[in-house]
Amino acid sequence: MILAILLAVLAFLTVAPAHAKTGILIPLYSYPETTETWEPLETAITTFPDVQFYVIVNPDSGPGPTDTNYQAAVAALRTHANVLLVGYVFTSFGARPLDEVQQDIETYAGWPTASGLAGIFFDETQAGLTSTYKAYTDVARNTPWPGRTTGYVILNPGEDIGASDYYTLADQIVTFENTYAQYQNQAPLPLPHPAQQAFIIHSFTGTNQTLASVVQAFETSGIASAYITDVNIATSDVYKSFGSDWMVFVQDVNA
Ligand SMILES: *[C@@H]1O[C@H](CO)[C@@H](O)[C@H](O)[C@H]1NC(C)=O
Repeated sequence: MILAILLAVLAFLTVAPAHAKTGILIPLYSYPETTETWEPLETAITTFPDVQFYVIVNPDSGPGPTDTNYQAAVAALRTHANVLLVGYVFTSFGARPLDEVQQDIETYAGWPTASGLAGIFFDETQAGLTSTYKAYTDVARNTPWPGRTTGYVILNPGEDIGASDYYTLADQIVTFENTYAQYQNQAPLPLPHPAQQAFIIHSFTGTNQTLASVVQAFETSGIASAYITDVNIATSDVYKSFGSDWMVFVQDVNA
């Protein structure tokens, strides 16, 4: 009897999955002028092969016109197994016509296989418009992406949307995108679906130790992915360059 219970407990411990490790979601909105522009990302990806990088590419607030220079830079990122690439599409808080959204998605999906993306990051997501966002995300899911059976979908309301049915539409939802000061005001952030939630903190002003403890809290909550940068919104375009804390952040995620 005791042995049976012990075996059952052991079987449970073996089967019960630990939650997936928190990855890094990076809004890569800089233009790859030279090979150096994206080098900090390339270095992080190769130095930490156990960290999953979700990279949002964004040539021109969307796919823009065909740009072979841009696509070649994306192809270099795509060669790494720990990288998943999604294309930036804005949705004007649900007001953007479906055919325009569809056109952006199909443009990304038409990129050469070598620079092929996995799906779409929908910016300016408005909560409470399920049929609109179901239509947008259905296109992203069902459009053929190289090497995938279904498109990867990230929605960005940038704030908590509660226990929304949007969680059935997306792989990840960004439920915080704001400054570190706002993060401090709001923490602890609501965790309705941690394994599908992503947090983006910019204008970070804490110490290395604080950075490590914020990352540690995210890992403990089991959130899907995060991005923290000390690039400050008061002076800079926060997603067009890497923060001075970039490698420290990546190291913390890896730890
Ligand atoms: C934070 O850590 C990095 C990397 O270890 C180091 O170069 C930097 O000096 C540290 N910053 C502070 C303020 O200690």
